Amino acid sequence: MDADSRAWRSAWAIADRVAVAGVVAAVIADTEHEWAGQWHWLIVAAIWAGTAFFAADVVLRCRLAIVHRHGWRRGLSVYLRSASAWVDVVAAAAVPAALLAGLDRDTAYLFGLLGVLKLGRYSSGMGLLRRVARNAAEPLLSVLLAFVIVWTLAATLAYLLERTAQPATFGSIPLAMWWAIVTLTTTGYGDATPVTLPGRVLAGVVMVSGIGVFALWAGILASGFADELRRRDFLRNWDLVAKVPFFSSIGAGLIGEVARLLRRHEVAGGQTVFQAGEPGEAMYFIVSGAVEVRVPGGPVRLGENGFFGEMALISGAPRTATVVALDACILLELGVAEFRHLAGSRPELMDVIHQESSRRAAS
Ligand code: CMP
Repeated sequence: MDADSRAWRSAWAIADRVAVAGVVAAVIADTEHEWAGQWHWLIVAAIWAGTAFFAADVVLRCRLAIVHRHGWRRGLSVYLRSASAWVDVVAAAAVPAALLAGLDRDTAYLFGLLGVLKLGRYSSGMGLLRRVARNAAEPLLSVLLAFVIVWTLAATLAYLLERTAQPATFGSIPLAMWWAIVTLTTTGYGDATPVTLPGRVLAGVVMVSGIGVFALWAGILASGFADELRRRDFLRNWDLVAKVPFFSSIGAGLIGEVARLLRRHEVAGGQTVFQAGEPGEAMYFIVSGAVEVRVPGGPVRLGENGFFGEMALISGAPRTATVVALDACILLELGVAEFRHLAGSRPELMDVIHQESSRRAAS
């Protein structure tokens, strides 16, 4: 993609987000009677301008798919099979379709809020959320099942214990289910509360069970997110490690092992990576860009496939020089604990690092 089309794409993406914000704000404002009266034309114009933009967006994306996939048939089928295409179509068609279906104007405009779904395309977090939900679907469903079991049991017991004392609120299991769900989720509106002693004991047990179920749910999601982020970092690192010739000798299997030990670290041009005299906590391999090592004999430039920061890790002494990025750099950071691990598992890599360190110390 050339620079021109990149600029067009990012301008279009910004316009898309502005259109979504405009439509959403207008729909919300339209439900406030005072604003709807005062700003009627502005609200209507924003909703229709946004809807027209969404329609133009669908047409443009179809056209791009046709051009890039070499033909309208293949292009359209690839685009229209994607979830984001359906979101685009729904956002563009929702308000006109609701009006055509005979809904009144106020209700039809509410469908404009569906445009907010388009924002999912611009957030990498949504993809992450989808993958976490897919990977953790089994434990999440088990917790959901446990929730349904506790809910039904709690409602049945509450019905048994409270139906005589409070027939209006606990006179049937469906009625008691309202109390049970409000108590399990610890929302506790207080509109239905047990009055008998056994009923209150049951309420305490149900509240604690509710906290347990939601804690489990949160724990599963949190570990799912952590796993997914670790996997993503690992894949990114794998690519980066494979690019560094220093590691190319170790073979594909071991690149995975090394990738687990390294962390991607980006620095901007002109940024100081570390200063002379600081304690050494990590060494760095340069994937792209270049740095300047400010040694007393004059600055030394290190480029791709270079490494630095190893001397402090080997000797345990403070940094011997300040290192500054000459341009934007992608570095792979090897922490001190991981450095020791690598020294044990890959002594041949460490020999190369030790030799270079000795040469630098002597120069
Ligand atoms: P460290 O002492 O941890 O921090 C400064 C780093 O600069 C040092 O490790 C080396 O990696 C690097 N360095 C020191 N002297 C030289 C040199 N003469 N040439 C290239 N790099 C050097």
